[in-house]
Amino acid sequence: MERKDIVVDVIKNRRSIRKFKDKPIDDDTIRKIIEMGTWAPSGLNNQPWKFVIIKDKELKAKIAECTKYSGIIRDAPVCIAVFLDNSQSYNRVKDIQAIGACIQNMLLTIHAMGLGGVWLGEILNKREEVEQILNIPSELELMAVVAIGYPAESGGKGVRKPLSEVILR
Ligand SMILES: Cc1cc2nc3c(=O)[nH]c(=O)nc-3n(C[C@H](O)[C@H](O)[C@H](O)COP(=O)(O)O)c2cc1C
Repeated sequence: MERKDIVVDVIKNRRSIRKFKDKPIDDDTIRKIIEMGTWAPSGLNNQPWKFVIIKDKELKAKIAECTKYSGIIRDAPVCIAVFLDNSQSYNRVKDIQAIGACIQNMLLTIHAMGLGGVWLGEILNKREEVEQILNIPSELELMAVVAIGYPAESGGKGVRKPLSEVILR
């Protein structure tokens, strides 16, 4: 496959995966996923992200209590909490955009490696509780939790609005 076809394939066929096999992910793989996140662009290249890897079952169970998507967190062998480091921030909107790019890089890497993942945002309703459970310094602000595992489902159909609806002119 040509490079452009590979990129299109990975972007288009990535789906959110919410059911996982009971199989661990090795640490090198987890580090590679985070490393690819850090290759995202950021304003002034300020790289305002920080990560916490959560594998411990009891800790996952506590974090799971902070979202209505608790089953996803409990079943995923690994969750990665992604934080905005406000001490590195230069422009809140742009920093948050960079974090989004970082998370998307992670999701694409997860998919390309034959793993599955999902971006969990609902948990932000209990952001402070999560930060407390993880004992996070006050300058870090939770942006999302990414749940990762070997996929036990193929994901949804991947419905998107047609371009005619989204290109204004
Ligand atoms: C900012 C953001 C927050 C999200 N939060 C959740 C969430 O809390 N729970 C969940 O199951 N999926 C969550 N998702 C995943 C979306 O539901 C999913 O990406 C969307 O339905 C499109 O499906 P696809 O990823 O399979 O293409 C979130 C996605 C984004 C970008």
